[in-house]
Amino acid sequence: MSAEPLVVIDDLKIDVRLTRANRLPIVDTATFSIDRGEIIGLIGESGSGKTMLCRALVGTLGRRGAYIAGGKLTFDGIDLVTAKGSAWADIRGKRIGYVPQSALAGPNPVMTIGAQLEESILQDKEFSKGNVKARAIELLNIVQIRRPEVVMHQYQHELSGGMKQRVMIACAIAQQPELIVADEPTTGLDVTVQAEIMRLLLDIRSEFKTSIILVSHDLPLVNQICDEIVVMHAGSTVEKISSRDITRANHPYTRALYDSRIDLVEPKGELTTINGQPPTVGNWPVGCRFSERCNFVEDRCRLPQVLPIIPIGPNGFSTCLRFNELEK
Ligand SMILES: Nc1ncnc2c1ncn2[C@@H]1O[C@H](COP(=O)(O)OP(=O)(O)OP(=O)(O)O)[C@@H](O)[C@H]1O
Ligand SMILES: [Mg+2]
Repeated sequence: MSAEPLVVIDDLKIDVRLTRANRLPIVDTATFSIDRGEIIGLIGESGSGKTMLCRALVGTLGRRGAYIAGGKLTFDGIDLVTAKGSAWADIRGKRIGYVPQSALAGPNPVMTIGAQLEESILQDKEFSKGNVKARAIELLNIVQIRRPEVVMHQYQHELSGGMKQRVMIACAIAQQPELIVADEPTTGLDVTVQAEIMRLLLDIRSEFKTSIILVSHDLPLVNQICDEIVVMHAGSTVEKISSRDITRANHPYTRALYDSRIDLVEPKGELTTINGQPPTVGNWPVGCRFSERCNFVEDRCRLPQVLPIIPIGPNGFSTCLRFNELEK
């Protein structure tokens, strides 16, 4: 087993092709790595580029007219920037499982849950028509679906939101991937079901040593189960921080996200919000893209510049020029 992280993302850039001559940058300066068995939370406001980054990891950017415009992306040492169809066939679904953002819309509506799971399982040569059904039931048991024999014959409209999400996770782990990319697997579910799905992901990690990248808007939620948190803002990764240090974050945007959490257990009275609107793609401010909404902004933050990635501790970083002056 190599000592290199399972996934390395370094200064990754993703553009969308608008016309033959026009390209729109959607993600730039995305930088972080994922170790084997590690759970990374990827958080940030809507439109910050989380799903595009997930799609880069499973090689489906092209379906949105997007492509990798620069930087490095490797999985177990394999260069995913230049990977072609046959290389992806060995990785997508097999070594990297994907729970797409729209998963709550559910599995395929015209196939039974069993047929869908069996289709995923049969991609793995270890399984054949003879043993596929047993494996499908085993997978439904792993994702803690009760009465799996009954559910095998059901269609997605017969399942609750939480069950649909469990089935999507079962499909994602069918081929025993080393990495699961779960794009907002709990958005739209009620809080108790959210907690159950999070617990399930933790169980999968401890049983199979799977690495997981968990995308969410909900910083306190992902913070409970992730080892490290990567924060995206306007197409950039602006901070990486260990979850245990989240209350002492090194970027004002991370702090603002944390302070604007809704705490149902200990309500804090007035709700805190982040000033202004997130910058939209194509209209990113020069310098620090959070500068227009930041309480700590100084003139130097607004200068045209590529912000440095300042290493903090063994694994973390911040792109805030004033990280050292933030109250700890
Ligand atoms: N084909 C496209 N053409 C133009 N813009 C696009 C295209 N696909 C995505 N975008 C834009 O890229 C940005 C990043 O999209 P992405 O789906 O990655 O955001 P996100 O962080 O996952 O947001 P959310 O939290 O709402 O899911 C968005 O502003 C989106 O509108
Ligand atoms: Mg998204």
